[in-house]
Amino acid sequence: MSVANTLPEGLEIREIDDPKYGAEIAELRFSTYQYDTLFSRMYPIYTDPAGTKSWMTTREITIMKMKTTKTAAIFDTTTGMMLAFIKLTVPVELPLEGSAAENLPAYPEGFNVPLQNKFRSLLKASDKYYNKQADSYIGALYTLPSHQGRGYGSALLSWAIEQARATSSRIFIQASPSGHNLYLKLGWKDLEKLTIDLSEFGGETYPIYNMVKEA
Ligand SMILES: CC(C)(COP(=O)(O)OP(=O)(O)OC[C@H]1O[C@@H](n2cnc3c(N)ncnc32)[C@H](O)[C@@H]1OP(=O)(O)O)[C@@H](O)C(=O)NCCC(=O)NCCS
Repeated sequence: MSVANTLPEGLEIREIDDPKYGAEIAELRFSTYQYDTLFSRMYPIYTDPAGTKSWMTTREITIMKMKTTKTAAIFDTTTGMMLAFIKLTVPVELPLEGSAAENLPAYPEGFNVPLQNKFRSLLKASDKYYNKQADSYIGALYTLPSHQGRGYGSALLSWAIEQARATSSRIFIQASPSGHNLYLKLGWKDLEKLTIDLSEFGGETYPIYNMVKEA
């Protein structure tokens, strides 16, 4: 059964590579951050929402132009609205032409650089699990908060698994707490649980799960 058939009528999954979708992807990503104890502390979503969205849009457009990642989204076919999206990086020929980070705009005012550095160094320590030339990697999966729990995340993950099968044997993921259970259900296995201590930023701890699935 094709992935699209698992969605209710009136919805479709489309692969997208046009930078014109950058603003919509940024808006969708932004809409989930208030519910996330890490990202709500990292991005100035309350003090500078417009600056944050604008920075995120530029970032998304930059990444979409690089074409190292496949993006798919679920659209409402009546309104054209994007309801969920996923980003899948398939095995890449190294060296890459330059990293997206080199071309990114300056962070918005109020961006929590120390927290982001902490987050990045933790993720870097996970590089040992992920072979960029052989594995696929799910770099983002977001569903609009008002549309979660309806199977959209699962449908996009099925799409990603089908794509990954063509080029790789394993699909690596660094899962947030809200995605962890879903990945377990769909066959991913835990490799390691990491935690970010948010106490200096007024929070508690935030878990991240290194996970892998045979494609
Ligand atoms: C993780 C995320 C993308 C999941 O998206 P989603 O569209 O809600 O995913 P699904 O609807 O397929 O699955 C969510 C839950 O609903 C259940 N579900 C799926 N289809 C369902 C249906 N038709 N009716 C009722 N429940 C359903 C799933 O089994 C799953 O249950 P679980 O939470 O116990 O695992 C979403 O929570 C999100 O955007 N989170 C914030 C961003 C984030 O952290 N992303 C993960 C990055 S690693």
